[in-house]
Amino acid sequence: MARRKLIYEGKAKILYDGPEPGTYVQYFKDDATAFNAGKKDVIEGKGVLNNRLSEFFMNGLQQIGVPTHFIKRLNMREQLIRQCEIIPLEVIVRNYAAGTMAKRLGMEEGTQLPRPIVEFSYKDDSLGDPLVPEEYIAAFGWASQQDLDDIVSIALKVNDFISGVMYGVGIKLVDFKIEIGRVWDNDFQRLVVADEISPDSCRLWDIETGRKLDKDVFRRDLGDLADAYTEVAKRLGVLPTNTAQMPKPTLIN
Ligand code: C5P
Repeated sequence: MARRKLIYEGKAKILYDGPEPGTYVQYFKDDATAFNAGKKDVIEGKGVLNNRLSEFFMNGLQQIGVPTHFIKRLNMREQLIRQCEIIPLEVIVRNYAAGTMAKRLGMEEGTQLPRPIVEFSYKDDSLGDPLVPEEYIAAFGWASQQDLDDIVSIALKVNDFISGVMYGVGIKLVDFKIEIGRVWDNDFQRLVVADEISPDSCRLWDIETGRKLDKDVFRRDLGDLADAYTEVAKRLGVLPTNTAQMPKPTLIN
């Protein structure tokens, strides 16, 4: 039997060649990293929860007409996705000041912003993903001005969707990051939401208590990360059973 081909291993996920041309299998690891991998741990069950949560959000987006790379979930830790060319940008949408924005501008975390703000970081770990203005993006050819307009429109739709879904279960969407990929249909390019949408890439605060239900629990040592993600999954009705006992991946020879 052939060993499946590893395409890329990142901090939280692994990509394998998929069963059909134009597809990949995306595997969710239990590894948690923060501060550009300066802080690392293994949180049992995190990969299973993020696989489910990302499936939930990507499916929902597709249903409201926002294209994504997601095809279907394969098992507890893997999903089938469409191959795409990742645009080297982290697209961040903020509704409330937190994290690097609060720090940069000396704002109190939780301050409501006058409107959702979209910002871009250049995806490069060795540079620490620096914030970049749209001028750089167009000038350096990472994305055209038309792409940028489309990316902002997609990001704001994702924001409306996740904010609404979360509000319905008593959670405030403070901010989030998405990545955008290009899919080619012959000569035509389509932009799709790629990577993952999960509490690893969002800030989620309980509306009543302010409890943090996202990766800041790990970044700031605020308690048990798997408990926080389980709470989000439970409220959304996507809780898998036995998350702690999911086996590690085995490559088939
Ligand atoms: O750290 P910062 O405040 O800029 O993060 C904004 C949002 O983007 C947060 O929800 C964070 O989890 C997410 N993010 C991410 N991956 C990064 C940087 C930020 O998912 N590399």
